[in-house]
Amino acid sequence: MKFPDNFLWGGAIAANQCEGAWNEDGKGMSVADVAMFKPNVDKKDYVSQWHIDMDDIRKARETDDVVYYPKRHGVDFYHHYEEDIALFAEMGFKTLRLSIAWTRLFPNGDEEKPNEKGLLFYENVFKCLRKHNIEPLVTLSHYEMPLYLVENYEGWASREVVDMFVKFATTCFERYKDLVKYWLTFNEIDSVFRHPFTTVGIVEDNYASKNEAEEAIYKALHHQLVASALVTKYAREIIPGAQIGCMVTKTLTYPETCNPEDIYLAMMDNRTNNLYTDVQVRGKYPLWIKKLWKDKGFEIPILEGDEEILAAHTVDFISFSYYMSMVQSIHAEKREKVGGNLTTGVKNPYLSTSEWGWQIDPKGLEISLIDLYDRYQKPLWIVENGLGYNDVVNEDGTIEDDYRINYFADHFKAIGHAIENGVEVMGYTSWGCIDIVSASTSQMSKRYGFIYVDVDDYNKGTYKRLKKKSFDWYKKVIETNGEILKD
Ligand code: BG6
Repeated sequence: MKFPDNFLWGGAIAANQCEGAWNEDGKGMSVADVAMFKPNVDKKDYVSQWHIDMDDIRKARETDDVVYYPKRHGVDFYHHYEEDIALFAEMGFKTLRLSIAWTRLFPNGDEEKPNEKGLLFYENVFKCLRKHNIEPLVTLSHYEMPLYLVENYEGWASREVVDMFVKFATTCFERYKDLVKYWLTFNEIDSVFRHPFTTVGIVEDNYASKNEAEEAIYKALHHQLVASALVTKYAREIIPGAQIGCMVTKTLTYPETCNPEDIYLAMMDNRTNNLYTDVQVRGKYPLWIKKLWKDKGFEIPILEGDEEILAAHTVDFISFSYYMSMVQSIHAEKREKVGGNLTTGVKNPYLSTSEWGWQIDPKGLEISLIDLYDRYQKPLWIVENGLGYNDVVNEDGTIEDDYRINYFADHFKAIGHAIENGVEVMGYTSWGCIDIVSASTSQMSKRYGFIYVDVDDYNKGTYKRLKKKSFDWYKKVIETNGEILKD
């Protein structure tokens, strides 16, 4: 098993799940500051976890509570970033994926001038990374749009938001052009349909029908795709050598059997999953989506010039998250179901599931890599992958997370096999390399890190950082560039 010499091993975090300091130094409220920890919601009830309506927003605006709004405290990376980056450096990270909170720079999104304190914070973080020889990989938008744009516009369904985002992005490019070379535009752009509030600021209950909400979501998606292409253009103009990637959730779907009906259903799901990369890599909408809009009577505001923008500014590489695979069956209603950050699906009898019902499938990662590479022939970067687990700290302070080590070993071997199979993989950043607040459940107890943070679901704890057993193991993987993975 041989990983390329310049393989970018590292970890990934997102501002809204790690920084905390939700109202410090001029930061505005973002959609993440509305997300509640709901102790009584079933861990596998994906729909309730993500649901937000105007009443939830009103209540969130009226309170300073951080206990039930855990993304407001995160793991206080805002004040611990030097310590955390030093720990990443100790593991030998070559790269760190992180995001910039739009609301630190433009608290409402529509201000004329950026907030200097916000700009300075990220400048210091990037300088600290450079000091440790860690290459930043920066996501411009990771579920953290200004709440003001939800309340005063129609989220991303409003065209004005494209201009505001472009201003935010170009502000970042100008300021960080000497510090950051690798950029991602929108995290899991395909999640518009899974949780539209978080991804594009659309409150579904505000629409008269499901159909109207769906039309608004497609409008918002079109605006994000145009914005993504535009900022790709500006990044190339402003930053010499900039490398821009798209970021999607790889939702590999298998047919339950070789019945052509099962195969057809699985293929259609995979086709939908490819929509987003098709536009961002190939530069145009596939015919089927335009037909779908026409059949449903949707008016998608594709302005003159939009299609040229999409065609002219495609991405340099494809990045994706990979957590699980799905199964489709014509008998879906009769089959046992599993949960996930995606949607509920048919249980795959060959796979085990995590406590949160996510199906663990390392071979699916290899299949995904081959599938994406064969479709697009673009370099790939796995920017999220990992196991959410409620780790236990022993009395002596150790955390024996062998389950995590096994999970990673299997997934790393899968990447190695894909590379042997002629797939170009730029790097790997494990999700939540330090424990952070869960995006879906807002729990702290759904931990992904090599580094444990002492804070629980009710914001009790010292915020002390502890190395898990996997910390030293990942360090060896990086040190040997994957050599220790040999069976
Ligand atoms: C991805 C998101 O969908 O999954 C991350 O990009 C998220 O923000 C990750 O944290 C894992 O999901 P969760 O709900 O376990 O945090």
